[in-house]
Amino acid sequence: MNEPMQHTDPYATWCRPKLADLLGAVALDVEYTRASGAYLYREVAGQEVAVLDMVGGFGAGLFGHNHPVLKAAMHRLLDADTPFLAQCASRGSAGRLAQRLNALLPGDASYLTHFTNDGAGAVEAVLKHAYKVRFDALRRTFEQVSRDVEAFHNAHESRADELQIPGGLEWGRFRDELDEYNIAELERFQHRPVVLALKGAFHGKTTGALKLTFNKAYREGFEGLSAIHTQFLDPSDLLRVEEIVAGHPIRFRLPVLCGRTVEIEERSANAVILLALEVIQGEGGMRPVPEEALRAVASARTRIDLPCLIDEIQTGCGRTGSFVAFADSPLTGTEPEYVTLSKALGGGLVKLGAALIREDIYDHDFGILHTSTFAEDELSSGVAHCALDLLTANDGAMMRGVAVTGDYLLRGLRSLATRFPGVVRDVRGRGLMIGVEFTDLHEASPFFRFGIRQGFLSLVVASYLLHHHQVRILAPLTTLLKGNPGKKRQAILRLQPAAVISRAECDRVLAGLAEVFEIIAHNNESVLVGHLVGATPDAATRRNPPIIAVERPMRARRDDFDARIGFVLHPAQPSQLIDYYLPSMRDRVDPSRFTEWWNRMARFLEPDVVHTDYITANGFTVEASIIATPFLPGPMMEACQRCSNRSVASRDDWRRLEEMQDKIQDAVTFARELGDDHIPTTMVGLGAFTSIITDQGRSINDFEVPITTGNAYTAGLMVEGIAHAAELRGLRLEECTAAVVGAAGNIGSVLAAMLAGRVAALRLIGREGVDSVRRLELARAACIAEAPNAAGRITIHTTLDAVGDADIVTVATSSAESRLIGPDIVKLGAIVSCASVPSNLSGAFHDRLDDFVVFDGGFARLPGGQEVDCVGFPGGGLAFGCFSETVLLGLAGHDRSFARGAITPGQVRTALRLAAEQGFVLGELKLDGQPYPTGALT
Ligand code: F0G
Repeated sequence: MNEPMQHTDPYATWCRPKLADLLGAVALDVEYTRASGAYLYREVAGQEVAVLDMVGGFGAGLFGHNHPVLKAAMHRLLDADTPFLAQCASRGSAGRLAQRLNALLPGDASYLTHFTNDGAGAVEAVLKHAYKVRFDALRRTFEQVSRDVEAFHNAHESRADELQIPGGLEWGRFRDELDEYNIAELERFQHRPVVLALKGAFHGKTTGALKLTFNKAYREGFEGLSAIHTQFLDPSDLLRVEEIVAGHPIRFRLPVLCGRTVEIEERSANAVILLALEVIQGEGGMRPVPEEALRAVASARTRIDLPCLIDEIQTGCGRTGSFVAFADSPLTGTEPEYVTLSKALGGGLVKLGAALIREDIYDHDFGILHTSTFAEDELSSGVAHCALDLLTANDGAMMRGVAVTGDYLLRGLRSLATRFPGVVRDVRGRGLMIGVEFTDLHEASPFFRFGIRQGFLSLVVASYLLHHHQVRILAPLTTLLKGNPGKKRQAILRLQPAAVISRAECDRVLAGLAEVFEIIAHNNESVLVGHLVGATPDAATRRNPPIIAVERPMRARRDDFDARIGFVLHPAQPSQLIDYYLPSMRDRVDPSRFTEWWNRMARFLEPDVVHTDYITANGFTVEASIIATPFLPGPMMEACQRCSNRSVASRDDWRRLEEMQDKIQDAVTFARELGDDHIPTTMVGLGAFTSIITDQGRSINDFEVPITTGNAYTAGLMVEGIAHAAELRGLRLEECTAAVVGAAGNIGSVLAAMLAGRVAALRLIGREGVDSVRRLELARAACIAEAPNAAGRITIHTTLDAVGDADIVTVATSSAESRLIGPDIVKLGAIVSCASVPSNLSGAFHDRLDDFVVFDGGFARLPGGQEVDCVGFPGGGLAFGCFSETVLLGLAGHDRSFARGAITPGQVRTALRLAAEQGFVLGELKLDGQPYPTGALT
C-alpha cells in the first residue's frame, strides 16, 4: 500500500494534511472524545478535560451537543425500526415537517419544501429552481416571439418588395437575422444567468452556491464550473437595486409594420434570477445587513419582479432569538420567494437542510427533477420535529432565552470593547450569533500587526483560550485561507454557543477574553504564544502580562518620493525572527523549539511589508518596501536540494518547493500592489534565497512587474572586493594568478570574464565530465570575448588542485558543500572569496583570518551614508548588493526585468556604471553576512 508517511495522525494522513498541519502549528489539533450540552471533552494525560464550546458546530449546535430529548428521539426512531430509505413513497414525516415550517415563517404565504442533506444543497436547490422559473418564462417569450416573427414573415412576404426593411436587408435574410438575434439573447441568459449577492456573503461551497460566496479565495479556482454570474453588492447598493437589475436586460426583437416601414419592437425580460441575502452575515464576519438596505429591498420588491432568497441557514431555527432573523427585519412582510434553513434544523444531530419555495412560483416539475437519495429521510425529519418541539415549547421560551443570553454576552463583550478600545473595534450580532472584531493594532508590535492583517492572530487567540481557559472559540473559516497578496483579512472571533450556556459560563468566556485583550494591549507576544513554543507562561504572568515596549512601530510612509521598488527577503536566522516579531520572547525560548514551530507556521504566513525606507541619490528619491517571506534558509535549501535531483524528489518535495515559489510570487505581486497609477512599482528585487528558490527569478511572473535577482551588482561588488583586498594586501592584480571555482556556472563564468583582463593568469575550475568541460570551454570563450589579449593565459581544470598556487581564489558553485574550500588547499596569504549561497567556504577559515583575506561578498555603501534600519540588514550605511541593485534600477527608471536567469558581464558593467552615477560604492567586505571583522584586514 502506498501510505503517505509524514503524519501519524490518521486524519492528517488520510483526510486533510494541510489543514491538519495548520491546526497542529497552533495546537488546535486536539481530538474530542465526548460531547454534551455546551461542552466538548478531551483527554489530557488520561484525564477528561471539559472544553466550553463557543463554536457550536459553526452554528448548528444551538441545542447543545447530544441534547437528551433529541437523543431520545433518535433512539426511539431507531428502536421502532423506522424506515428511512423509502424514496418515492409517501413520506409523512417530511410532509408534516414542511407543514410545520410554514407555520413558523412570518407572513401568510405558503411554501413548499425541498429537504436536502446540508446547507449548500438547499442553496443549490434554490438556484436551480430560480433558474428554471426564469428560463421557462424566457423560453416561452422566445417561442412566442419566434412564432410572431414567422407569422410576420409569411403575412407580408407577398409585398416584401414594397416595404422598407431595417438595414435594407433582403426579406428572408431579415427574418433569419431576427431569429439569430433572439436565439443569441436566449443563449446569453443560459450562459450567464445573473445573481445578486452581497459582498461578504457565504452561501456554501458546491459549484453553484460557491458563485454566491464572496471570498475570492474560495471561488477563484472554480469559477468556470458554473455559468452563474454574481454581481456582488455593497449593502448601500441595495438602495438602487432597481437600477442594478435594469442593467441586466434580455431583449427579444420582433417586427411590426408602420405604414410601409418595418420597425423593430422589443420584448424585455431580465437576466437577474435571484437576490440572495443573509440578514446577518455569518462567515462574512457576523455582520448584520443595515436595516436601511433591507428596507430598500422590501420597497423595490413592490415595484419590480426581484426573486429573493433569504438564507437563514445560519441565522435561522432560533439562533438569533426568533425562528428566522428576517422576521425581526424590514423584510418581514415581504414574503420572500425562497428561504433556506439548515444547521440547527436537524438539532445539530442529523444532517438536514431545507429549501422553502413560495407556492405561487413553485414549479411542479421541479419536485420530480430535483431529488436526492438521502433527502426527506424519516430519521432526520423525526429529529427535526423534535428540535422544533424544543424550540416552540412554552410559546418559544427557548428562543426568548437565546435572546436574553445573547444580550448578556453582547453587553459583556461591549464593556470589554470599552475597556480595550485599542484592541477591540466592534462587537456585533444578535442572539447567540456574535462577532468580536479586532482593531488593526497599528500601534502594536509586528507580530500583532501582521497577525491581524493576515488573520492568524484569531487562531493564536483561539489556541490560547483552549489551552489556558478550556474555551473553544474560532474565527471564520476564511481566516485559514490563503489571502490575496497584500489584502487585509478578517480579524474577528465568532461566538455561537449553545442555548444552554449559562451566565456563569458567559462570564468565564469574558474573563478569558479580557485576559487575551490585556496581553495584546500590553504587546506581550510571549505570553500569547508561549504555550506553542515550550515556554508556557504561569497563571500570574498571564493575569498580569508585563507591558512590552514596541520596538518596531509602524513606520510612517512619506509622500515626497519619485519612484517605488519592492525587495523580497526572508529571515536569515531564528534570532532575527524573534528580534523582529517576538522581542518579548528573547532569551525565553529554546531556539530550536522556536525554529521548529516557525517552520511549521511558515507555510501559513503571508509575505508582508516589514520595512519601508527612502533612498535618495542625485536629488531623486526611491521608496523601498521590504517584503518578508516567512521561510528560513534551512527549509528553502532543503526544498531546492531535494528537487535538484529529479530522480529522488518526491511529489511532496515538489509541492513544498512550489509552495515556497508561490509565496515569493505573492510577495512580488504584493510589491506591485503597493504601487499606484501615479508612482507604480517599477522593480522588485529578489533577496538572498528567494532568487535561488525561484531559479534566479525564472519562476516569477515578470509580466506583472519587472524583477531582478540583484546578481549583477552582487557580482560587480565581488570583483571590486577582490581588487580592494588585493590593494590592502599590497598585491598587484596584473601579477596575480586567479582561480575561479565553479566557472562552468553562470555567476562563475561572469566573475571569470570580469577578471580575465586584469590578472596574469586565470584558471577556470569545474567538475569532471563532458558536459562540465564543454561549459568551461564556453566560459573561456566568454573570457576571451571580454579580454581578447588574455586568451593564452586562461586554462581549464577539473580538479581542485588547481587552486593550490593561486593568489586569488573565487568560488561560485551550486554545491551546498560547506567545506569545499578550506585553508588546507589554498595558498597562504591568498585572497579567497565566495559567491555561492550557501557558502562553500570552510568554517576553519574563521580561525585563520590573519593568514588569508577571506570573504563571501561585499556590501555596497549607500549614497551619502544613508541607513536602512531593517532587520537582517547590516546597518552602518551598508546594504546588500541585491538590494542595492534593485534601488539602482529604481532610481534609473529601468522598466524591464534585469538580472533574471543567467547574467552577463554587460549587466555587471551596467550595474557598476549605475552605481557610480548614483553614488553607491563598495562598502566593507562581508563574511557570513556580517561586515568583515575589523582589524583582520590590516
Ligand atoms: N449559507 C449560510 C448562510 C451558511 O452560513 C452556510 C455555512 C451555508 C449556507 C452552507 O452550509 O456548510 O451545510 O453546506 N456556513 C458555515 C459557516 C460553514 O462557517 O458559517 P453547509
